[in-house]
Amino acid sequence: MSTAQEALKKQAAEAALKYIQPNTVVGVGTGSTVNYFIDALATIKHDIEAAVSSSEASTARLIAHGIEVIELNNCVDLPVYVDGADELDQHLRMVKGGGGALTREKIIAAVAQQFVCIADQSKLVGRLGQFPVPVEVIPMARSYVAREIVKLGGDPVWRQGFVTDNGNIILDIHNFDILDPVQLELQLNNIVGVVSNGLFAKRGANIAIIAGSDGLQILE
Ligand code: 5RP
Repeated sequence: MSTAQEALKKQAAEAALKYIQPNTVVGVGTGSTVNYFIDALATIKHDIEAAVSSSEASTARLIAHGIEVIELNNCVDLPVYVDGADELDQHLRMVKGGGGALTREKIIAAVAQQFVCIADQSKLVGRLGQFPVPVEVIPMARSYVAREIVKLGGDPVWRQGFVTDNGNIILDIHNFDILDPVQLELQLNNIVGVVSNGLFAKRGANIAIIAGSDGLQILE
């Protein structure tokens, strides 16, 4: 990763502070871009109520900054969720889960009123599908789910040695021809043994902050 790209991630992450409302719980995603967001959030930690977190890694970073992390079950109102993406299209549909946190990310995104996606310009694509779509699977269903995914036109690759925070495995699906991301998201969810998948199309982002060499671009 070049230092220029890291600087763009940091710019997008810091710009997300503008969407945080005082005295509310903040939804926090996972990944290297979100790590910059957590560091920025620490500068206003006394103005927020707490955070809900999408991964053990983000939780550890939030706590290290002295930001209280509460359980999603104890959070009635979540105005904003901030997270990165592996790919994002002009309709704010995303592929996520490169870091394997897709299921908790999807749950928090479902609860949040607004999903603010933060990314450097390399993540913005004309069409989703270059980045393999991660699918979280109950371990005993791995081979069955892989066979069903082949029927849908994808090439599943087991992310060996990786266990999700929920104790499951990840299949990364290469070569999907994603004509209709919402339909494919639902088809993947319908396979028995699939916990969730990394297509965030049915519930995409509401706002995307894209940092590029020409500055920040806001999509909504
Ligand atoms: C983790 C994710 C991340 O948002 C995605 O992988 C982007 O990460 P990064 O900011 O490191 O590029 O979905 O599960």
